Amino acid sequence: MFIPTLLSLALAAAPALAHFQLNYPPPRGPFVAQMELSFCSGYPTGARSPFPIDGGFVDITSEHPTATVGIIISFDNNPTTFAQFNITANGTSYPPLLPFFTMNWQGDLCVPVDAESVGIPIVNGTNATLQVEFNGSDGALFDCADVVLITNYTIPSGTQCSNSTASSSTSTSTTSSAPTTSPTSSALALPAAGAKVIALLAAVGAAVALYV
Ligand SMILES: *[C@@H]1O[C@H](CO)[C@@H](O)[C@H](O)[C@H]1NC(C)=O
Ligand SMILES: *[C@@H]1O[C@H](CO)[C@@H](O)[C@H](O)[C@H]1NC(C)=O
Ligand SMILES: *[C@@H]1O[C@H](CO)[C@@H](O)[C@H](O)[C@H]1NC(C)=O
Ligand SMILES: *[C@@H]1O[C@H](CO)[C@@H](O)[C@H](O)[C@H]1NC(C)=O
Ligand SMILES: *[C@@H]1O[C@H](CO)[C@@H](O)[C@H](O)[C@H]1NC(C)=O
Ligand SMILES: *[C@@H]1O[C@H](CO)[C@@H](O)[C@H](O)[C@H]1NC(C)=O
Ligand SMILES: *[C@@H]1O[C@H](CO)[C@@H](O)[C@H](O)[C@H]1NC(C)=O
Repeated sequence: MFIPTLLSLALAAAPALAHFQLNYPPPRGPFVAQMELSFCSGYPTGARSPFPIDGGFVDITSEHPTATVGIIISFDNNPTTFAQFNITANGTSYPPLLPFFTMNWQGDLCVPVDAESVGIPIVNGTNATLQVEFNGSDGALFDCADVVLITNYTIPSGTQCSNSTASSSTSTSTTSSAPTTSPTSSALALPAAGAKVIALLAAVGAAVALYV
């Protein structure tokens, strides 16, 4: 009974194992690898967490050695299309919160974001949704966080915000260089959930092979 459940979980994760996790602001729902292929990871608009109008940050964990990452923002209460992340309900267009850039390391990324930077006037208490777009070269992945934008809100101290050590070697200018992290350190850099999936896949690998 338990084993088939584990197997189906492993199989669900297998087609696209390497993904990313949105750590902060809090995502709509728990990380589910397969759901991440969908707009806002397939979750509906949910509870809002307070987020600074300026001086905010977004923290993710990437399981790819290289990826393009972008962040878009919607000011609609219940955005359901990508268009609602670049045009307001009254028709004002605005740019991405963070245009796509290349993250050339595996592990944590923490980027500063300023909602006011998109040029839409924002008052205290404005609702918004942040959507992270991530492409680790095997297709687009998405996750969302619903927030309420608060003037001078202070993000609780201790909230995860860091770039993995690999990033501190800022002079890796060659685009096609071999990964600098060893398989062992890459595995260690995985968050617990990812590591568990890996371990699970390894443990049931033979069974999965038979199963499929
Ligand atoms: C807004 O997003 C839609 C859908 O992704 C896209 O077709 C459109 O070109 C975008 N507009 C702007 C101004 O970026
Ligand atoms: C359009 O909406 C934006 C964001 O909600 C608001 O700041 C702006 O004042 C509105 N413009 C008009 C003309 O209503
Ligand atoms: C912003 O709104 C929050 C929650 O509604 C409130 O607690 C806070 O006092 C407001 N701040 C300002 C500067 O108006
Ligand atoms: C913001 O969203 C909440 C639900 O999360 C809703 O109750 C509230 O009315 C919204 N505020 C505005 C100004 O639309
Ligand atoms: C993802 O990136 C790969 C190259 O790294 C590119 O071929 C592909 O078109 C991208 N997919 C999307 C949906 O942007
Ligand atoms: C927000 O913080 C800035 C800088 O600390 C301060 O000058 C400003 O008065 C604060 N605004 C409110 C509404 O508290
Ligand atoms: C992490 O790296 C990004 C991209 O270089 C940078 O914008 C950001 O400020 C860095 N974050 C931290 C916490 O150093």
